[in-house]
Amino acid sequence: MIIGVPREVKDHETRVGLVPSGAAALREAGHEVLVETHAGEGSTLSNDEYARAGATILPTAAEVWSRADLVVKVKEPQASEYAFLRPGLTLFTYLHLAPLPELTGRLLDSGVTGIAYETIVEPDGSLPLLTPMSEVAGRLAVQVGAQYLERPSGGRGILLGGVPGVASANVAILGGGVVGTNAAKVALGMGAHVTIVDRNLHRLREIDDIFNGMVVTLASNAWTISETLKLSDLVIGGILIPGAAAPKVVRRDMISSMRRGSVVVDVAIDQGGCFETSRPTTHTDPVYIVDNVLHYCVTNMPAAVPHTSTFALTNATFPYLLELANKGIERACKDHPGLCAGVNTWRGDVTHPGVAASQGCPFKAMHGDAASSRVSAGTEQRA
Ligand SMILES: NC(=O)c1ccc[n+]([C@@H]2O[C@H](COP(=O)([O-])OP(=O)(O)OC[C@H]3O[C@@H](n4cnc5c(N)ncnc54)[C@H](O)[C@@H]3O)[C@@H](O)[C@H]2O)c1
Repeated sequence: MIIGVPREVKDHETRVGLVPSGAAALREAGHEVLVETHAGEGSTLSNDEYARAGATILPTAAEVWSRADLVVKVKEPQASEYAFLRPGLTLFTYLHLAPLPELTGRLLDSGVTGIAYETIVEPDGSLPLLTPMSEVAGRLAVQVGAQYLERPSGGRGILLGGVPGVASANVAILGGGVVGTNAAKVALGMGAHVTIVDRNLHRLREIDDIFNGMVVTLASNAWTISETLKLSDLVIGGILIPGAAAPKVVRRDMISSMRRGSVVVDVAIDQGGCFETSRPTTHTDPVYIVDNVLHYCVTNMPAAVPHTSTFALTNATFPYLLELANKGIERACKDHPGLCAGVNTWRGDVTHPGVAASQGCPFKAMHGDAASSRVSAGTEQRA
């Protein structure tokens, strides 16, 4: 198979869909790899590294898209890439089609097989190609929170870990899932006092075991959140209800009760955010202030650390890519229902029930069986 790797064109997107080690493994398996020049540059991966891995470097996106059987990317195609969609092409990337009727229409009209990272599901119900970006965002949330607590960044002037004789900062984490536990690891490592709030008691028991009692766990309700926030220097929002907008568990009056110069990092902003005062921000202009509290609400946090994020993402995507390349799309999907669940468009039909439901168009299972329909409609998220 010929695998194409174009450079990402979405604003501030500097990740890349394949790293040189992946190119080498594909070559060893007998495939051809075409990489657009400078595709890896944003992730500090040079043309030379790809060339040494056996990839062919091509000067334009058009050449990569037109020669490849399968294009591997990070973000959904942008308007400038629509002209490259054509029959026979397979696209393997984050697609997030539910809110994108225009792109869905383009994929259907062109007959492209669109395989979305975010709807690939494993037998235990996990979403293996979403987890790595939540790991990155959770860890990064503490790093950026610590930076904005510094006085020159507008914060209270607090060192997360304190020093002997001066108390450490209080970090509250709302939601103890992938984002929450990764944030807790970093906050503990920096010496902060950490509290995790979750509505799932079973999850809180697991967290208590994982951290051996080093974090305070609290059951989620408005009273608990309100009292916790009054004493928190940094609050991280990592709540998710799959397929739904994040619940606004933090009201404005709770924000007003926080100390001047405290920081909130709403990681869940891509699902609408869990603070009433949150609105989406960008890496160019990441923070704003409400009631003297700094708000960081960047919707694509992993793009701030593209080198780490690219490797984290491709570690997870590569086994699926290799399977698609080695077996061909149809056999790979027949053999692997979790991978089949990633197929959102196939020969002009929508093959994912969630995408079909969100756009009011008919759903047709890829193999005419129930494989795809096993996936819940609740997996349309970000990356
Ligand atoms: N901004 C970004 O760049 C970025 C990057 C990665 C992930 N995210 C987002 O971060 C959010 C969290 O992702 P995740 O992978 O950790 O999800 P997850 O499913 O692993 O964890 C979510 C947790 O929220 C808890 N929860 C649900 N309702 C709650 C409530 N009312 N009170 C307290 N806890 C509640 C759940 O029990 C669960 O433990 C998602 O919205 C995800 O899209 C954003």
